Amino acid sequence: MSTARTIRRFTEEPVDDATLARCLEAATWAPSGANAQAWRFVVLRSPELRAVVATAAAQALEVIEPVYGMTRPAEDDHSRRARTNRATYELHDRADEFTSVLFLQERFPQASELLLGGSIFPAMQNFLLAARALGLGTCLTSWASYGGEPLLRAAVGVPDNWMLAGHVVAGWPRGNHGPVRRRPLSEVVFLDRWDERASAIVGDSSERLQSSFAPKRP
Ligand SMILES: Cc1cc2nc3c(=O)[nH]c(=O)nc-3n(C[C@H](O)[C@H](O)[C@H](O)COP(=O)(O)O)c2cc1C
Repeated sequence: MSTARTIRRFTEEPVDDATLARCLEAATWAPSGANAQAWRFVVLRSPELRAVVATAAAQALEVIEPVYGMTRPAEDDHSRRARTNRATYELHDRADEFTSVLFLQERFPQASELLLGGSIFPAMQNFLLAARALGLGTCLTSWASYGGEPLLRAAVGVPDNWMLAGHVVAGWPRGNHGPVRRRPLSEVVFLDRWDERASAIVGDSSERLQSSFAPKRP
């Protein structure tokens, strides 16, 4: 988990069916409300679907750029931000080259979208973690949102009562799975009250806890 970082740069090697199937099986091991498993996972691999994914990616990029203040970095800019942005542009520019998976959740009128999301996001996370365990890289994207949603719905033939919960690109990483950078536990965990720090439980720094999860082998 601590090295399951987003991967945006992939080798040319296609994702084999056996690896993909293992990640998808891990997705099905996730919990869902009432164990309803009202989910469906659609692998997008044909040239036609990849072309739609590429259009959706371009549309998402148009939304994301101003929100994150992103621009294409200069070649001689090697800052962390420039490196992330460069990888993000590469992923979006090459979106039609990758296998990706749509995660769908059936709507139920009595449940809020957030509650329904709670029944599909654990499956997505299981997929991401299984991929990491197998050495596969993934990037959760918002390409099935924004302008891409109607395009993907039409291309896949998704019924109206199913929600596109997420879209994950998968491939063999170019580069390493780095450690995640997250806010320390002490900043985000509270005890009994909204503003009561839980230092008795988590201490004042997250370093000790994180290191106990460090993988013995990369
Ligand atoms: C709901 C969601 C949507 C995301 N959409 C995109 C996206 O459209 N493009 C992209 O490059 N990364 C996307 N990401 C990846 C996040 O930017 C990434 O998970 C976050 O910056 C943390 O980075 P890390 O996984 O390397 O630690 C998305 C992540 C989530 C959870």
